Amino acid sequence: MSQFCKDSKFNTLSKRLDLIKNMKGAVIPSLQEAQSIYGYLCPEIIELIANKLNVSTEQVYGVASFYSQFKLQPIGKHRVSVCLGTACYVKGADEILKKIIQILEIEEGETTKDGYFSLDTVRCVGCCSLAPLMMIDEKLYAKVKVEEVENILNTFKSENK
Ligand code: FES
Repeated sequence: MSQFCKDSKFNTLSKRLDLIKNMKGAVIPSLQEAQSIYGYLCPEIIELIANKLNVSTEQVYGVASFYSQFKLQPIGKHRVSVCLGTACYVKGADEILKKIIQILEIEEGETTKDGYFSLDTVRCVGCCSLAPLMMIDEKLYAKVKVEEVENILNTFKSENK
């Protein structure tokens, strides 16, 4: 069992799964329950759910990987997001995303090796006049230029150690 999953939360989850396991379509609520406790779904959690629900691990993994709400990797300490809504996209948000991917050396949905940043995309956060946007946690960066991205990430990291 990985160190992320080997803790007291495991018993809590196991008890909650016992309450859910006989429901119809129990896989999704079980995954939601597990993710609410752990923040992501490690292989051991997938296996626990499969055992409890008496289905195959492939079946549980298939559902978990199909829905973007489920995270199969640990979430970073800070979440970097790029808006890929229409207004941001036409103003070059895809180039900003590419630059972040290049700097952090992770793809969308992944977490840096040091566990500091995770990266994802969002669709229109309602500030289209400020496009293109990127966010780190709740902090919003407006009208971002590709050449500013590295400085934004470095400055955030130096201010949030
Ligand atoms: S499209 Fe990015 S804020 Fe609306």
